[in-house]
Amino acid sequence: MSFEQRHGEYLARIERVLDQTLPAASLPPTRLHEAMRYAVLGGGKRIRPLLVYATGESLGVAAECLDAPAAAIELMHAFSLVHDDLPAMDDDELRRGRPTTHRAFDEATAILAADALQPLAFQTLITAPALVPYPLEQIRLVALLAEACGSNGMTGGQAIDMESEGQHLDPAALEHMYRLKTGRLLRAAVLSAACCPPGADTEQTHHLERFIDALGLAFQIRDDILDIEGTTEQIGKRQGADIARDKATYPALFGLPAARARMDELWAAAVAALDELPTPTEGLRWLAEQIVRRED
Ligand code: IPE
Ligand code: IPE
Ligand code: MG
Ligand code: MG
Ligand code: MG
Repeated sequence: MSFEQRHGEYLARIERVLDQTLPAASLPPTRLHEAMRYAVLGGGKRIRPLLVYATGESLGVAAECLDAPAAAIELMHAFSLVHDDLPAMDDDELRRGRPTTHRAFDEATAILAADALQPLAFQTLITAPALVPYPLEQIRLVALLAEACGSNGMTGGQAIDMESEGQHLDPAALEHMYRLKTGRLLRAAVLSAACCPPGADTEQTHHLERFIDALGLAFQIRDDILDIEGTTEQIGKRQGADIARDKATYPALFGLPAARARMDELWAAAVAALDELPTPTEGLRWLAEQIVRRED
């Protein structure tokens, strides 16, 4: 069975894990818990968890060990989306085809829900029964996620993104911003699987890093292209939002043909890195293709 056929099982699996990880909506403070569940459940492509599972397959990691890293990274991603959509940031009203969390609830609740998702991600890594026998690996997983989200990771990238509205960045500066705001969390997804037992050797880790560093940039370029070429219905976000805010994006600064060419070049570099990985790569290859061909 191919990963394409199997990925539906992983989607159901991560949905179940996230559902069990999040506090029940009936528990007080109920409005906060409802908002946390709203921000995480029932939507999203789940690309980061799928990357965790596909890398785990490649390295022979048991799926039970991958559940907590997959969930932790998706919780962190959901937290970043709630903040990204706030009026103080991208000021978006639509996400995953529904009102953004601050529109469905209110700004204070959205900020607090995101605040609570972040520690829940770390708690998930530390308390997962499948990982408790591996304390050293748990420490590495926590460190990896913390680095990926801090000022040299997603949050730093978001700061540069906000400062860059209306600015002309050169390609290196733009790609630096993409690497931080989007690339680091995707990188953590792949490397988290490599942290789980039995782990990856230095050579495998090197090729996996080359793979995801290229694919992470391609992912954000595709997102920027879809903001122009997609429809609101397709992408579940308001089409044209980047242009409306004068965001520094690859297609806005260098044109759509250059953006497409750079994305294809990065995809080819990602696949070339997989060619050098001595372990099975079918799932990662399929995901890489999905990321650059996706329509949502
Ligand atoms: C959106 O990420 C934010 C970016 C980093 C571009 P996704 O495109 O993975 O969003 P969901 O999770 O599928 O909604
Ligand atoms: C967001 O980039 C990256 C994050 C860290 C959330 P975008 O602002 O382009 O993401 P979308 O288009 O709103 O999903
Ligand atoms: Mg943004
Ligand atoms: Mg945004
Ligand atoms: Mg975008």
